[in-house]
Amino acid sequence: MKPIQVGLLGAGTVGSGTFKVLQRNQEEIKRRAGRGIEITMVADLDTARAREVAGDGVKVVSDAREVIANPDIDIVIELIGGYGIAKQLVLEAIAAGKHVVTANKALLAVHGTEIFAAAHAKGVMVAFEAAVAGGIPIIKALREGLTANSIQWLAGIINGTTNFILSEMRDKGLDFATVLKEAQRLGYAEADPTFDIEGVDAGHKVTLMSALAFGIPVQFDKAHIEGITKLAAQDIRYAEQLGYRIKLLGVTKRTAKGIELRVHPSLVPSKRLLANVEGAMNAVVVHGDAVGTTLYYGKGAGSEPTASAVIADLVDITRLHTADAAHRVPHLAFHPDALSDLQVLPMAEVVTSYYLRLRVADQAGVLAKVTGLLATAGISIDAVLQREADEVGGEGSTQTDLIILTHDAREGTVDEVMAELQALPTVLEPIVRIRKEELK
Ligand code: HSE
Repeated sequence: MKPIQVGLLGAGTVGSGTFKVLQRNQEEIKRRAGRGIEITMVADLDTARAREVAGDGVKVVSDAREVIANPDIDIVIELIGGYGIAKQLVLEAIAAGKHVVTANKALLAVHGTEIFAAAHAKGVMVAFEAAVAGGIPIIKALREGLTANSIQWLAGIINGTTNFILSEMRDKGLDFATVLKEAQRLGYAEADPTFDIEGVDAGHKVTLMSALAFGIPVQFDKAHIEGITKLAAQDIRYAEQLGYRIKLLGVTKRTAKGIELRVHPSLVPSKRLLANVEGAMNAVVVHGDAVGTTLYYGKGAGSEPTASAVIADLVDITRLHTADAAHRVPHLAFHPDALSDLQVLPMAEVVTSYYLRLRVADQAGVLAKVTGLLATAGISIDAVLQREADEVGGEGSTQTDLIILTHDAREGTVDEVMAELQALPTVLEPIVRIRKEELK
């Protein structure tokens, strides 16, 4: 059978890895897919770069629409990124009856409902393994491997840039701004790292995983997103003294009231495997009712790791494209007419535990007042750490840090009690609140 023909939009790092891996492993890939897979056309505004990536025998164009219009192309790989022209091109490729492979988490997390509906109507596949956690086959695991389970929750380190920064902050005791600069110098962080450090990239990825896990529509606008820019080195140190590491987690949970969908820095017990994922690596923990807790670990970015995911999708499509569309695996794991109407909860309804750091006047009765307000609100304390005033503010200091770990509490209740605590004259600076995930 003649090879399936693929058109590539965007000849950057991942595109180049896709060429290399397809070429290097072509025989094995063919034996797995049942026929050859060939990229026969590439579009990139930088045609010189595209020609270098593609090598001989591949048609290079600057206009992506030429690829989409080519009747010989069966699958279009979109590696342009972003919500702009990429959205237009993906919708046009679908309308032209092409299957689509994309690494574009931003596009799918924000416009997934529209894109999957268009693909469903046209009977084509949109595959996105590369969109979440790079080379880790987490989409496949959620959509197929864990399909017997009622998934209860998942939590992941799904942004390598921020995990690298947090690892460096902890290792070297440095503050966020210093480590970010170093990460940019070393090429671990983009020149504009906003999406990474503000948690947006992780938000896109956890939104997609939440849809797959719980059979809900993709709803990035309902996700609660906080990044790591406000994290202080001293909180990383205090957390460590209490037996925790701070990680930027994407968390989504099924609760009796609805779905939690959130990204924020979290204390994770140091003994958990997730707490020990360091540097730019990614990891996702998924808890299903039948399987229990499972862990997926690997490279979340990079040329060949991401190409590994792109090619896995190409093979899937090659195997399935002649199958009746009704017999293929649904895009979001659940059949589109069987999606759940479970609501994504507002943050006030989220229940988790907390790390609170209060800079307080080192006076009699302060601890009693603080714990009294927490007790009145029904918030149970798990641990308290008080530093020596000298250690915190230097010799003769009259201030100290009071660190409180709570048991599970409703976030809305914690907000209310934090406002009361903040109003105490003995609480001298804005209270630091970091959520804590025990991941039991
Ligand atoms: N910028 C992402 C990260 C990789 O730092 O993990 C692509 O999703």
